[in-house]
Amino acid sequence: MRAASLPAFGVFGITLAWCAWANEPALTVTTGGNTVSYAPAALLALPSAATLNIPNDVAYKRDMTFHAVPVGAVLPGVRADETIRFVTRDGFVASLPAAALLATGDGAVAYLAIESTDAPWPPLKAGDAATAGPFYVVWLRPERGAIVPEQWPYQVVRIEAVAPLVKRFPMLAPAATLSARSPVRHGFDVYIKNCSVCHTLNLGGDSTVGPDLNVPYNPTEYMRPDALRRLIRDPQSLRKWPAARMPAFGVKVVSDRDLTDLVAYLQHMADRKAPSPAK
Ligand code: HEC
Repeated sequence: MRAASLPAFGVFGITLAWCAWANEPALTVTTGGNTVSYAPAALLALPSAATLNIPNDVAYKRDMTFHAVPVGAVLPGVRADETIRFVTRDGFVASLPAAALLATGDGAVAYLAIESTDAPWPPLKAGDAATAGPFYVVWLRPERGAIVPEQWPYQVVRIEAVAPLVKRFPMLAPAATLSARSPVRHGFDVYIKNCSVCHTLNLGGDSTVGPDLNVPYNPTEYMRPDALRRLIRDPQSLRKWPAARMPAFGVKVVSDRDLTDLVAYLQHMADRKAPSPAK
């Protein structure tokens, strides 16, 4: 493990980073087989550090203000198709597609909020000292990316970039014989970015928040295409119950073309079914 070498960093900053490292929990980041450790003070001294107001914060369930850096600042060289794993103090792992985390601009943008010893955060629950720190993934404009509460991991201590989902789960891939410009391939990209964060398909994927989308049945096998499109656009418009967890995907997140191609990918995968697991 080597210490973080951060660009645009004065002598004062380095000293600050080193003494802070001794008593503050560091963030360990592994990308491309390289592990780097970042002290909170060093991250807060980055030029991209900002103070964010987060309305109705997910962990605290109220408006909050955090010091943060864009998540991309700790993921140098990471490609958009890689998967980023956030490991919490308790060993809980949240896997998110790098594409969403690296996005900048006026859509949903991910930040790493940093708790420092001189400005500790409030406890998450009354009567319990635990805060959302030391590191917490917060989003600006989450509604523009259909970002759901599962995608706000808190109490993060380690971040790891791992191989793209399709490398780890080849059963997700459409037929290799399809042309590079096939709508099914584009639909597959839409699936990875938006759906794989909660669903498996052919039992492949990091998350089982929602049901598998091919085994034993693919939704295109039991839902009319218009009903399936409607479910993805607004699940609650089809079946409504209080504990439903699937978010709506508006046209800003999944365009009409994305949706058509996504349904084409699902249809295509119905013919590429993995065997059901033995009971
Ligand atoms: C935040 C997690 C989450 C995301 C993201 C998500 N889903 Fe879901 N999905 C669920 C859950 C959970 C259910 C079960 C119903 C519920 O609780 O809403 C579900 C149900 C479904 C169903 C209905 C299955 C059935 O027969 O009842 C389909 C189809 C589906 N999802 C497709 C998708 C597609 C396609 C995407 C990507 C555009 C997607 N989901 C994104 C969590 C998610």
